[in-house]
Amino acid sequence: METGYGPLNGVTVVDFTHVMAGPTCTMMLADMGADVIKIERVPYEADGSHNADDPYWINGVSASYMIVNRNKRGLPLNLKTPEGVEIAHRLIAQGDVVVENYRPGVLDRLGVGYEDAKKTNPGIIYAAVSGFGRTGPYGDRPGYDLMAQGMSGIMSVTGEGPGRPPVKPGVPMTDITAGILLAMGVCAALRHREVTGEGQMVDTSLFEAGIVQTYWHSALSFSTGTAPEPLGSGHPLQAPYQAITTSDGHITISAGGWMWGGFCKLVAPELEHDPRFDTNEKRMTNVKELEVILNEKMSVKTTAEWIVELEAAGMPSGPINSIPEMHRDPQALARDMVVTQDHPVAGEVPVLGFPVKFSETPGGPIKPSTVYGQYTREILGTAGYSDAEIDSLIAAGATADSM
Ligand SMILES: CC(C)(COP(=O)(O)OP(=O)(O)OC[C@H]1O[C@@H](n2cnc3c(N)ncnc32)[C@H](O)[C@@H]1OP(=O)(O)O)[C@@H](O)C(=O)NCCC(=O)NCCS
Repeated sequence: METGYGPLNGVTVVDFTHVMAGPTCTMMLADMGADVIKIERVPYEADGSHNADDPYWINGVSASYMIVNRNKRGLPLNLKTPEGVEIAHRLIAQGDVVVENYRPGVLDRLGVGYEDAKKTNPGIIYAAVSGFGRTGPYGDRPGYDLMAQGMSGIMSVTGEGPGRPPVKPGVPMTDITAGILLAMGVCAALRHREVTGEGQMVDTSLFEAGIVQTYWHSALSFSTGTAPEPLGSGHPLQAPYQAITTSDGHITISAGGWMWGGFCKLVAPELEHDPRFDTNEKRMTNVKELEVILNEKMSVKTTAEWIVELEAAGMPSGPINSIPEMHRDPQALARDMVVTQDHPVAGEVPVLGFPVKFSETPGGPIKPSTVYGQYTREILGTAGYSDAEIDSLIAAGATADSM
């Protein structure tokens, strides 16, 4: 394992995660330098992470596995064998953090739930993402991003307006946010343990990750008692703040507050003191009318031309990139948000970078994702198993060192 990088260098994480939310959390921890041991299923064919049920592969390796599992060391472990559970407990005893996102109760049944882990290592930080959190009336339910987006209210304010079919934001925002929240909780719990020696359970959910996306909309609802409606690309508190038509596509603009006057001078001087639009409140009331006018006024130039002018006036604006356009964006590249890794099977593969930059302890993608079984002997050897013991654990089906 590469060591000596990232602020979490020296922290060991035992990672019982799958799908997206849990792996996002452990990827964040790994990118900050933690040694993440990702427990995988035995045999290879049973491992849903490597054998993602999706059509995206790069040279025979699952693209979705590679993108959220870089920097981790995989360890196949059959937790339905006593030997597999024994290995897990040895890793927990030697580790700092456990992260999991199975259905609540699954890991308890397998003998590696919080109570079991705490007996093995009283200082363990045990972090879990579930659909709805471990308590409350939905505490036992399974969950996916789609349900969390629906139940948290996000889908009720997404899309082009009332009466249209429900629309989900195109990215799994509650999965990713829950993973980030859990990583935040782990860092805070590590700090608490450093001071007091005390471990603890850290518990968040997709549902709560969805609820915290609704600050603006909840404020609106608390204040008016009404249910906010979908606004397309618009904002519930400010106008104009939306996508507008240009001669070759769309542009995103934000021209509320002090920016309104300068924006009008560039786009439509007559609007600045127009009594329909001269305060934010009036622009909100007449937002549809304003949108029609701005679409007409801005459709005389290209998106790129408008961006040059708005940028020169110090006003935020931007194109609506496709995903490949985002991958080529010079700022994304300058911030190391799209980088390549040399994967032993897939070859040179692009991955997304780490979005937090540390001046003294830089993190980010160092190692490509694991080839199944690649680290088995290394991890078990470090945990104290002899070569002969590892051979017999493989023969017993508790672990594996190849596909
Ligand atoms: C995502 C989710 C709905 C999937 O449900 P599921 O496919 O039915 O999977 P479960 O979590 O119930 O269980 C997985 C199975 O793998 C088994 N398993 C997991 N790791 C194992 C290992 N290393 N060895 C042996 N068995 C293992 C479990 O025992 C369980 O099987 P069992 O029920 O026969 O005992 C569920 O895991 C969940 O709600 N997770 C929490 C919320 C979440 O993270 N959702 C996804 C966000 S991206």
